This record gives sequence, C-alpha cells and structure tokens, in this order.
Amino acid sequence: MSPISLLRAALTVQVLLGLLRFLGPYAGVGIDKRIWVVHPVLGITIAVGAIWLFRRRTDVPATPARTAARFVALAPLLLGLASLAGVASGLVLVLTHMGLGLAAIKIIDIAVEQQRASQPQPAVLAGSA
Ligand code: HEM
Repeated sequence: MSPISLLRAALTVQVLLGLLRFLGPYAGVGIDKRIWVVHPVLGITIAVGAIWLFRRRTDVPATPARTAARFVALAPLLLGLASLAGVASGLVLVLTHMGLGLAAIKIIDIAVEQQRASQPQPAVLAGSA
C-alpha cells in the first residue's frame, strides 16, 4: 500500500469514526470510550502526513490544490484540539469541524488525482492482459 493510499484509508476511517461519534448518541449506540483516542491520534498523523506527502517536488506540478492539500487537515485538527482542550465547544464548532474534515478529504482527493495524472503511466505490454 502506498503512503497516499494509507492517507486516503486513514481519512475514510476518520469520517466513519467522526460520524459514529456524532450520530451514535442519537442512534443510542454505546461505544467504548477508548475508541475515541483513535480519532485525534489519527487526525494528528493525517495532518503531519499530508504536510510531508504534498511537499514540493520537482516531478509534480505545484498546483493550488496541492498546496491546499498540504495544510488543509490542520483546520479540522485545530478545531478538534480546541474542542478536546475545552477551549471552545458547541454544535456550530462540531459541525464546522465535520465540514472542514470533509472538505479536506475532497481537496486531498483532487491533489492525489493531479499527482497521479502528472506521473508517467506504466507501459502496457502487448498480450499481457
Ligand atoms: C482530517 C480530518 C480530521 C481531523 C484532523 C480531526 C480531528 C479531530 C480531533 C483532534 C478531535 C478532538 C477529539 C475529541 O474530542 O475526542 C475531533 C473530534 C471530533 N471529530 Fe474530527 N477530525 C477530522 C475529521 C472529522 C470528520 C470528517 C468528522 C465527521 C464527518 C469528524 C467528526 C468529529 C466529531 C463528531 C468530534 C467530536 C467533537 C466534540 O464532541 O467536541 N471529524 N476530531
């Protein structure tokens, strides 16, 4: 699995955990509290990973989407950490956090697609299908 696929998988887990956390209480789903440690830890890993993965490279065009993808995960991370630290709270904060998280995934997807398109495609050998 490539680092970019790992990042994408981590973001999917992040959405699932976030939705579970948000909707769980309404659905009456009781979940072991220790599972919530995963969301912030994964969040920090994602933010640091994106800064590294979308760094400037000579073989990949420095598009606005790539620059945004590099730092966008910091936005939901900061709001999440503010909530965790009790600095800020409330439904608006949580909904903004979720929106920023989903927006981060969209922007990262665009940057991944641009990176893939800029890479030389492997040659297809005749008769190898
Ligand atoms: C890169 C994306 C994301 C990062 C870095 C991130 C990070 C964090 C952090 C650090 C917290 C605080 C941990 C805690 O309160 O226990 C948090 C809380 C939370 N996150 Fe995320 N998150 C991301 C994406 C998402 C997404 C996509 C959703 C939902 C669609 C989501 C839903 C939630 C919810 C519901 C909470 C609890 C907020 C509260 O009760 O105060 N997160 N997140």
